[in-house]
Amino acid sequence: MASVAQPTAVGTRSVVSHLSRLRSPRGQADPFPVYRRLRALGPVLPTPWGGHLVTRYDLCDQVLRGRDWHTIDAEWKARQSGDRWTGFAHQELSRTLQGLNSPHHPRHRRSIGNVFDRATLAELHGTVAGSVDGLLDTLVERIRDGEEPDFGAVVGDQLPIEVIGAWLDLPRADYPLLLWLTHEHVVCQELLPTPTDLASADNAAQGLRLYFTALVHDRRLNPGNDVISRWLRVWDELESDPEAAEAAVFYLVMFLFVAAVETTATLLPTMVWLLDQHPDQRRLLLADPGLVPGAVEEVLRYDPPIHMAGRVASRDMELGGVTVTQDSMVHLMIGSANHDPDHIVEPDVFDIRRQGNQLSMHLAFGGGAHYCVGAALARQEATELLRALTVRLPGLRVSTPPTWSRRVAFRRMTGMRVREG
Ligand code: HEM
Repeated sequence: MASVAQPTAVGTRSVVSHLSRLRSPRGQADPFPVYRRLRALGPVLPTPWGGHLVTRYDLCDQVLRGRDWHTIDAEWKARQSGDRWTGFAHQELSRTLQGLNSPHHPRHRRSIGNVFDRATLAELHGTVAGSVDGLLDTLVERIRDGEEPDFGAVVGDQLPIEVIGAWLDLPRADYPLLLWLTHEHVVCQELLPTPTDLASADNAAQGLRLYFTALVHDRRLNPGNDVISRWLRVWDELESDPEAAEAAVFYLVMFLFVAAVETTATLLPTMVWLLDQHPDQRRLLLADPGLVPGAVEEVLRYDPPIHMAGRVASRDMELGGVTVTQDSMVHLMIGSANHDPDHIVEPDVFDIRRQGNQLSMHLAFGGGAHYCVGAALARQEATELLRALTVRLPGLRVSTPPTWSRRVAFRRMTGMRVREG
């Protein structure tokens, strides 16, 4: 294993120039050389806005699991100056699982239990398999008609929304609107959103609120055995006020939906892209379908959908030899941590045959109290899709390389056209 780089006195100017590189089209297409340089600068690097980038696996993991590191909540946002954190999208996020700290977070998280347990995944298996089949029918038909369709638009965006939409029993006609609102909303969580990004996210948050409050209210009026009705029953026990119970369920459902769609919609085309770029690995996979789960895991490690997560220090703390003062923010560079040579052997090699913790110990789904609720479902969708692709379109190739949205936290790939053979 390589040795740990010692912290150095790094100026914020150097960090800014690396962040600009990350936001360039080249940096978006391949951020890993920039991450390597950032790791060489140190494990904890200062930003001009008083925060710190955390570049190493062990420190990101430590923060994710540490009780003294808080998620970005309503109280913290209220203490900040300027309008970066005051918009509607941020107010809404502060009331979702992701924006709650103890004691609120455990209460809300416990209320949904282990949502995607074995039994639920088994129930959802038919939905996932049916959706994969239908979407690949469309993809195959369009390819055979001589088109080079955009994989993300035809399959990547559709599979997660079809699965979560069926689970929540949403009308299919609403999917395009919900997809658009989701993509617009997530941008408020970017590292450096523009005022326009924030305004679009606020509008999207309004749309999501209207849609999902109406949905939850409808289930209140017409209760059934669906997941929303079940959560309403749980919250009616926890809250004496029925409106407060409805509000709690609204935030759970709305956030779960957004979190499920935006991330998995990136994982699926990334899988196709990385296998296209590594023909040796593609050949291995085609020769041995038993490698599918390992391939999904390696894609999650190599280029996870979320490259950055934020936390704030609840008191003055030392991290990687650097003092982080109370209330300042740390940006956990998950994409960099997953390529940390002190944690993973030959991290820049895409290798679907990794075993043991070299395969599963990555931070794509976060860690600690806020560990991803839907990790098992995301894995199920990706595995089912990849298995079906190896059978139905073994010769699938990328004909037009993707472009990436100018984001550094939530990756989003568009315009990746595919063909056969
Ligand atoms: C490849 C797909 C996915 C990736 C890479 C991913 C990644 C993540 C990460 C990194 C976090 C932690 C964020 C933090 O600590 O700040 C998280 C949390 C979360 N994820 Fe996922 N996710 C994926 C799919 C899903 C799906 C399918 C669902 C739901 C069906 C989901 C629901 C959630 C929820 C509700 C949280 C918040 C948990 C909490 O704060 O307690 N995710 N996810």
